[in-house]
Amino acid sequence: MPDAKPGTVYLKDYRPPAYLINRTELHFELYEDCAIVSSRLHLLRDGSVAQNASLQLHGQELELLSVAVDDCELSAAEYAISADSLLIYAVPEQCVVACRTRIRPQANTSLSGLYKSRSLFCTQCEAEGFRKITYYLDRPDVMSVFTVTVEAQREHYPVLLSNGNLSEVRELAAGRHRAVWHDPFPKPAYLFALVAGDLSHTQDSFTTASGRQVTLRIYVEERDLDKCQHAMRSLQQAMRWDEQVYGREYDLDIFNIVAVDDFNMGAMENKSLNIFNTSCVLCSPEITTDSGYQRVQAIVAHEYFHNWSGNRVTCRDWFQLSLKEGFTVFRDAQFSAAMGSPTVKRVEDATLLRTAQFAEDAGPLAHSVRPESFMEINNFYTLTVYEKGAEVVRMMHTLLGAEQFRRGSDLYFERHDGQAVTCEDFVRAMEDASGVDLHPFRNWYAQAGTPHLTVRDEYDAVRQCYTLHVQQSCPATPGQLEKLPFVIPLAMGLLGAAGNLPLRQTGTAGDVETSDNTHTVLIIDQPGQTFVFEGVTERPVPSLLRGFSAPVRLHYDYSKSDLCALMRRDADGFVRWDSAQVLAIRVIEEVERQLFTGAVPLVDPLFIAACDDLLRNESLDPAMVAEMLRLPSEEYLAELASQASGANVDTIHKARNIVRTALGSALVESLLARYHSLDSVLAYAPDAEQIARRSLRNTCLSYLVSAGPHNLELASRQYELAGNMTDRLAALKEIAFYGAGGLRDSTLNSFYQDWRHEALVVNQWFQVQAEIPDSQGLSRVQALLAHADFELRNPNKVRALVGGFTNQNPVNFHRVDGTGYRFLGDIVVALNGLNPQIASRLLTPLTKWRNYTGRAELMRAELERLATEPALSPDVFEVVTKSLQ
Ligand code: PHE
Ligand code: ZN
Repeated sequence: MPDAKPGTVYLKDYRPPAYLINRTELHFELYEDCAIVSSRLHLLRDGSVAQNASLQLHGQELELLSVAVDDCELSAAEYAISADSLLIYAVPEQCVVACRTRIRPQANTSLSGLYKSRSLFCTQCEAEGFRKITYYLDRPDVMSVFTVTVEAQREHYPVLLSNGNLSEVRELAAGRHRAVWHDPFPKPAYLFALVAGDLSHTQDSFTTASGRQVTLRIYVEERDLDKCQHAMRSLQQAMRWDEQVYGREYDLDIFNIVAVDDFNMGAMENKSLNIFNTSCVLCSPEITTDSGYQRVQAIVAHEYFHNWSGNRVTCRDWFQLSLKEGFTVFRDAQFSAAMGSPTVKRVEDATLLRTAQFAEDAGPLAHSVRPESFMEINNFYTLTVYEKGAEVVRMMHTLLGAEQFRRGSDLYFERHDGQAVTCEDFVRAMEDASGVDLHPFRNWYAQAGTPHLTVRDEYDAVRQCYTLHVQQSCPATPGQLEKLPFVIPLAMGLLGAAGNLPLRQTGTAGDVETSDNTHTVLIIDQPGQTFVFEGVTERPVPSLLRGFSAPVRLHYDYSKSDLCALMRRDADGFVRWDSAQVLAIRVIEEVERQLFTGAVPLVDPLFIAACDDLLRNESLDPAMVAEMLRLPSEEYLAELASQASGANVDTIHKARNIVRTALGSALVESLLARYHSLDSVLAYAPDAEQIARRSLRNTCLSYLVSAGPHNLELASRQYELAGNMTDRLAALKEIAFYGAGGLRDSTLNSFYQDWRHEALVVNQWFQVQAEIPDSQGLSRVQALLAHADFELRNPNKVRALVGGFTNQNPVNFHRVDGTGYRFLGDIVVALNGLNPQIASRLLTPLTKWRNYTGRAELMRAELERLATEPALSPDVFEVVTKSLQ
């Protein structure tokens, strides 16, 4: 761990590489105590960039055994080694640099570089992990053709994998064997991968549009072979979809997925050898919930889509991360929408964005989609880069229309195939193909912060004229005090008594084509603008930000009856859902005020009636009804409150519970009717229709339990009879949260006994307990840290237990005595040395300290304690220091 403060890297300092590596030959000898890595790098100096004949390669935690240039071993006087580089004082313009290094995968707990996940050797190189394997130009704009030889003991490592095609296998002396892999596509080192272990696989195939046969394999432990079907099907669906929607074909004869238990993220798009967290591949009805199935489908697709958006065309530098991630998240969202319910998918994405990304944008770590500087790149795999980045691509899609957007993506892939490029190159391809000037639009890449859109309206009944005044502004963010206007596509309609009204707009704006004259997209690109509609025969309710057309905070002063009207009758599903949310937020906030003044809390009957209507409406998609009935999370309510006077977690928790209970009690009859009618005898399938039914049924169950403890019987019965994890876990959660101690403990126990052999289920068991909002919340989690199945070194377990607690159990995390914060601080200290990436990610809830009324000082104090810890990793150091600024 470096003791010196980590330095800051700036985008403005980017220089092209002084050397290219045309070919990379790697040779791995894997042993039980170490690995020996031999490399041959075929280098070529770029005279236009190089200052002199020296060569500096990246390298960390490597033991250099020898280094040679053109097969002449160098003497100690000819090079210098530092903690993160190898400097060779002089090399010829064209040469082969060969290194032999020893590394210790067995001792690598950071899960970056070459490491062991249980008995498996595997790699994770993005972003800068390759430098922990061998000395190299570990930067994405150095692209090379890799040939990789792997040698290991045959008995324990029968499967030896790397990127590309298998070109040779051979038995060696002493029970060892070797495989040689060659990847014909030049790639940056971050896409390199290697796997060695005792794995089984399932195999299928895919025939590309042009008739090429591709072998598809998923490698897992033998016991998990029966859990790969869904991932395989998802892969095939993704491959077909990318051909049909983007014209992108797969480019090699083989595509492998490997599942590993210990992984920092969801999955990784290494060329033709994707490595996945087991939680993002394995599925079976007994162990996986519906949302788990959907996550697997989305992530398999995401990694596959990277083959074009990321691998064939990659990033010039890590400031451009959103070039591949924003675009690929947009692509996987389009795919998920096409495979399921588009409105539900949009609601989920908007919820994530508004709850977590808006908070990031409003906090001390706010950064633009294309950041200008970082200390540790691993801290920039953020919601802003991924999710807001995807929204930025989506807005271009909206502004250009599907057809021009496709022309733009075709041009982008064609123009930049085999290159490492920038976000600017992406936007330019979109402009060149469509003829649309996106110049002012680029502010979305450069400016951090969530824009506010404030809308006012006027109706002139005599002239039948309706006017919208729209103002935009954006709060200051660290390092960016003043902002230029954003280009904001504001999708909208007008709702009258009998439905949406035809739109006739005076003047210019709104030059986006729409198929229907009741829907339009206004282009907001000034601080203040006015839009006038003619022939409006009644005072309408504006339906604004349809489909969540931009990642902004919308302010319009709706009355409750306006919201009910939109909820019931607007043509846009997103607006209907959002109106229900806004109404629920209003009602919860009213109760908060009543609690504050000591008045008897009263839940507005208008809201209860609107929910009853929803429940009784059998013509609506049950999944949408479930989403509309779901109360906003405590986290989101806290985020909203922090925008005003600050969040009081206890009041939010209480008020939300009062509303839940009132709703449950008032609607028992409709809830029971719906709960029973949604029961199903069909065999489990993760299809949209079944998922929708289970989602609404479990929503009903939850409200019924809130209506009174007697309804826990329903939960218990559901728990006993459940034929799938979705229903079982939903029931378990109700029992764990609201059951009396005896019932809760015995149900949690029997769940554990039933599933202790499935790590992924044990994680869900940890997480349910981490979220229990009772007064024992913290001590329960502390006790579970000592559970035989808990391991601090496994990120999934840490995320389930610690992340579940700090993110989903606000009343316990924010205990007024500060012990919740101390708990997190202690874990971060322990993880700082083991796995800095996970340590730094876990810290996120503490960075929001300014948002919490009455807690800010305690939270800050914990961060300050962390700041004084010796040997902080760059990852944790950056988050701690920036959040204290
Ligand atoms: N590039 C991966 C993805 O988004 C994420 C990842 C980043 C995985 C860093 C591991 C390490 O698909
Ligand atoms: Zn990605």
